[in-house]
Formats: sequence, structure tokens, C-alpha cells
Amino acid sequence: MQAENGTEIKTRVFRVSEDNFDAVLEEAAEIIRNGGTVAFPTETVYGLGADGLCQEAVLKIFEAKQRPPGNPLSLLIHSREALRKIAVNVPENAFKLMDAFWPGPLTLVLEKSESVPAITSGNLPSVGVRMPDHRIPLELVKRAGRPLAAPSANLSGRPSPSSAAHVLADLEGRIDAVLDGGAVTIGVESTVLDMTAEPPVVLRPGAIGLDALEEIIGEVRPGYKSAKEEAGEASSEKIAGQKYGHYTPDTAVVLVEGEGALVAEKLGELADIFKHDGLKVGFLLSEESANYLDSKGLLSEDPEECFSLGAREEPDTAARRLFEGLRALDVKGLDIILADGSFSIMGLGIALIDRLKEAASTRFEV
Ligand code: TXA
Ligand code: MG
Repeated sequence: MQAENGTEIKTRVFRVSEDNFDAVLEEAAEIIRNGGTVAFPTETVYGLGADGLCQEAVLKIFEAKQRPPGNPLSLLIHSREALRKIAVNVPENAFKLMDAFWPGPLTLVLEKSESVPAITSGNLPSVGVRMPDHRIPLELVKRAGRPLAAPSANLSGRPSPSSAAHVLADLEGRIDAVLDGGAVTIGVESTVLDMTAEPPVVLRPGAIGLDALEEIIGEVRPGYKSAKEEAGEASSEKIAGQKYGHYTPDTAVVLVEGEGALVAEKLGELADIFKHDGLKVGFLLSEESANYLDSKGLLSEDPEECFSLGAREEPDTAARRLFEGLRALDVKGLDIILADGSFSIMGLGIALIDRLKEAASTRFEV
């Protein structure tokens, strides 16, 4: 594969283990200090890191990901000390949230300091900051001695990567190195909370839910698409991931949302219609819907065209498998992926449905 400027980069792959942890992390930190790009696992998804305070290094992230300029990157830090250099006028409530949820899957949008280049913040006066709950990025940031700009390590517009294999599928030949630290634990990106708004606004739902945030700081507004749509409001430019299409596989995704049994029936009806039209249909389903469709003889014969996200009442498991499922189905040469939106909205359920909606080109509610 070719990098943007036509030169091929040799992407080095390091499989991180207990034995080589120090040596690999030192080498990766060296690449970052020299202005290079390194992908690594976090607890949410794999990230692509570079020196977040160096314009040339950050430019490499935009080029590798083919990310539209202007879409802001967030910074990963390993200590509260590091915050002082990149953010100013940090509100008291932000510190309370850090106490409660850092390290963890919460990105706080704060007023940025002069030292954060405009390319990193997408020309915004604010910057997203997160302390990840994973020893690889924490150690990498520490050893590199600077905050890392670190978006998800996928090509722009593709599903986020939940394994090193996903990173390589998108970015091999375009980045300097990948640290393979195994599968991620959460599987969807962090909650993004804009602390510069009053009350603060959730720009992207993630593992830290609205209730959990409100328990610590009082009123928080849901600003992500689903809630906005329901409220019929115009979306703000700030809404994370909306201004720039996200999570879209190449194959058209048709999503059916609603109560379990009705969703299963509707999926069956659609599968039947599409198949009659001679279309090749794949499935991204809850276990329950898969059983229903199977009993009606409507599933594909090839089991690889039916990806199970697990039980409806276990949205956390479904969230962890989601991007794997979208990627696996996307390479099967299908015309349509029928996706099941009947999962419970407990835990990661809201984030799961949000990402399914992002992936979908057509949606039905039953
Ligand atoms: O879990 C995560 O957050 C992962 C891991 C790798 O840390 N990172 C991630 O980064 O998902 P990215 O760039 O793919 O998504 C960050 C989101 C984007 O939608 C971006 O628009 C939004 O956060 N964002 C970043 N800085 C912002 C700012 N200053 N104002 C508004 N939105 C911002
Ligand atoms: Mg992303």
C-alpha cells in the first residue's frame, strides 16, 4: 500500500508481551519522539498516536487516516500534571469527573492552551483530553514525554479497530508501527463530554453513561444524534463524528430498531424481499433474532454471512463485537447487511445503537 505522498512506509508490528514490554515501549516512544506514528490498543478501541504538540507529526495522522482536515483530534495523557500544559480554565466539575472516571473511557473537551497546535484541535478553541485505562498507551505517553494526539486507528469513514489486525487492514504501509496488545475490552470509543458548554453536553455516547456523569456533576445534556433527532433539534457542528460521516462499511447497512420479536419479524420480511430481488444479504444479529430467522429458513447458508452479536440483554458483549462484525461482513462481497437494533439500552446499549445508526444507510423502526 502507498502512503499519501506515494512513498511506502514499512509498518513494523510489535507483539507486546510481559517479556518484551520495556524494550518495545522504549522503541515505540523513540518513534513518537522522532515525529512518527504508532498504533496501540486502549481499553476502548485501537488508537493511532503521534506527538500531539508537533504540527508535522499530527499531519502524518491526517494523511495516514485520510481524515478530513478540521476534524479535531483528542489528546491522551498519563498524568494530571500533563493537563496543565494543554488545557486552561479547567472547571471544577471536570476535576470531579477525572477523579471519578480517569483513567477510563471519558474524553473531556476543555478550553485549550496556546501549546496545542490548531491542526490538532481542528482550529477549535477547545481540545479533547483523555487518560486511557490501559498500560500500553499510558506507558507510551509517559516515555514519549508529551501528550499523544490519538484518534481511532482506522481509515476515516471505516469502523473503528478493535484489534491489531483491523489496524493493519486499514493502515499497513501508511504508519510506522503497530503495538499488538490483543483485543480491546470495551470495543466502542470513549464518551465525549463537552465541558465548555453549560450544562456540559455529551457529544458521543460511550461506556460512561449520562446517569453516571450526572451523579457526579448534576445536569448533563445528551447532544448525540439519537437524542437530537428525537427532540427534532438542528445538530450543532460540534457533535462528535456527525459533521464527518463515521463507522460506515462499504456494504449498505439496513438497521431495524424496536422491540425484539417485532424486529426479528421485520428482519425476516426484509431478508425475504431482498433475496427475491436477487440481492446477497448478510446479517448482524442478536442471538434471538438469529434463532428466529433460522427457524424460518431465512438465514444465509454460509455461516460467515451471519455474525452474531450475542444476546439482546447483553449489549456490552454486542458492543465489543460490533466493529469486528461490521468488518467481517464487509469483506464478504454482500449487497446488503441487515442489522438488528433490538438490544437493551442498559450499559453500552446506547453507544451500541448510536454506532449502528452511524453505520446504517437505511433505518426502520417497528
Ligand atoms: O476511545 C476513544 O476516544 C478513542 C481512543 C483511541 O482513545 N479515540 C477516538 O478518537 O475515538 P477519534 O478522533 O476517532 O474520536 C474523537 C471524537 C471525534 O469525533 C472528534 O470530532 C471529537 O472526539 N472531538 C475531539 N476534540 C474535540 C473538540 N475539541 N470539540 C468537539 N469534539 C471533539
Ligand atoms: Mg474515529
